Amino acid sequence: MRILNRLLIQSTFRYHYRTNTVKAQKKSNTFNLEYDPIKQTIIYPPELLINNKNYPTDSWTNVNPHILSRLGQNLHRQKNHPLYHLTNRIRQYFYQQKDPRKQSPKFSIIDNLSPIVTVQQNFDSICTPNDHVSRTKSMNYYINKDTLFRAHTSAHQVDLIRSGLNAFLCIGDVYRRDSIDPTHYPIFHQCEGVQLFNKEELFMENRNVRGEKDNLQIFAPNEYRDATKQEGHTLEAVKLVEASLKQTITDLFKTLFPNASTLNSRWIDATFPFTHPSWEYEIEIDGKWYELLGCGIIEQSVLENSGLGKDYIGWAFGLGLERIAMIMYGIPDIRLFWSTDSGFLSQFQFEDSTRPVQYKPVSAYPQCINDLSMWMNKTRIDPLDLYDLVRSIGGDLIEQVLLIDEFYHEKKDKHSQTYRIIYRSMDRTLTKNEINMIHKDIENHCQKQFDVEIR
Ligand code: DAH
Repeated sequence: MRILNRLLIQSTFRYHYRTNTVKAQKKSNTFNLEYDPIKQTIIYPPELLINNKNYPTDSWTNVNPHILSRLGQNLHRQKNHPLYHLTNRIRQYFYQQKDPRKQSPKFSIIDNLSPIVTVQQNFDSICTPNDHVSRTKSMNYYINKDTLFRAHTSAHQVDLIRSGLNAFLCIGDVYRRDSIDPTHYPIFHQCEGVQLFNKEELFMENRNVRGEKDNLQIFAPNEYRDATKQEGHTLEAVKLVEASLKQTITDLFKTLFPNASTLNSRWIDATFPFTHPSWEYEIEIDGKWYELLGCGIIEQSVLENSGLGKDYIGWAFGLGLERIAMIMYGIPDIRLFWSTDSGFLSQFQFEDSTRPVQYKPVSAYPQCINDLSMWMNKTRIDPLDLYDLVRSIGGDLIEQVLLIDEFYHEKKDKHSQTYRIIYRSMDRTLTKNEINMIHKDIENHCQKQFDVEIR
């Protein structure tokens, strides 16, 4: 039975290898899917070999083979990939900003840090409270209780500041458990930006206040925290840093979207554990508002963790690259970024990253919709667990998964859920037979992992 199970499981991964040729079959970054029907979880081997390093597994482990198969692709560094062009344009914009004394670029750009980070880096270092939801297993891919795939590039802020950088961008792949639809994929890319100022830089560089510089201070020990600023900061320092941040971001988007004069944008008050005050920046396109980034004045305790809490104040932002590239190039589905199909990639084969391009669909292959209805013998399935399972089996042939019906049947004392699974390949027409096989595999895996009856 075990051997049969194994064979079945390997056969399911064929579908997913077929579409993701590059490194999916790399020996180390994968494992077999076996289930514990009582705990309703995947059974992990005692250690996972990831990028040639062994990590012990434990009750926090929830990575899956689909995620592991994507490691090391570094789409943002793949020549002529749309994310490569976009990061080039962001680089160019920041390289133009010069340090006034040295006339060298102010910002350093780091784009090659490993996405495997510690809980300390991803959460503690940037002052995320212990009970904050962003730490939960249901939102992240943990390798074990101390190690995870970074959920944001903010994980590197403190290390980079500590290493001596006062102004930098950090670009990389980030990992989050989420719903499945054309704008969400468990791996996406972010660009983090940070700039710090000491008293001299903040007040001297600002021509308007130069005459008053001797009276102006960053810190005032008796100042209280309110909606506009943190305790200990002077309002004038905060306002100058806020102006620098907002100017930097609006100018960046003016260069990315040259027709920005007609582009409406707005700042929305937000909350993040690592900044205060905080904002989100949105732009309006065809009557729809898109949130592009989060940002704010760095919490002084984050700077204290970096060893610079006494003299410096700073801003930070984190922007999602796929979101911007989808708007900029008219890319309709986030899975396309992972396509190895020449019909997609050839549209981005050019040297000059500033070239305006509108993506033309190669052709729209038909969707195929199958529903999955289940009675749960024990607990209700967390939809995020189901999404991971579906993506692990169906790979990038899955366009969307919707929980379309859920109820509790009193007489039977059972939960019922129905999911609609929408299959569509980005580069070919799928046969009914092929989809039925994948769907059957998904049903089998559901029965094994969750102890359900398929209806
Ligand atoms: N890390 C945040 C996220 O992934 C984005 C972010 C918000 C980054 C505010 C920042 C910041 O640096 O200041 O949702």
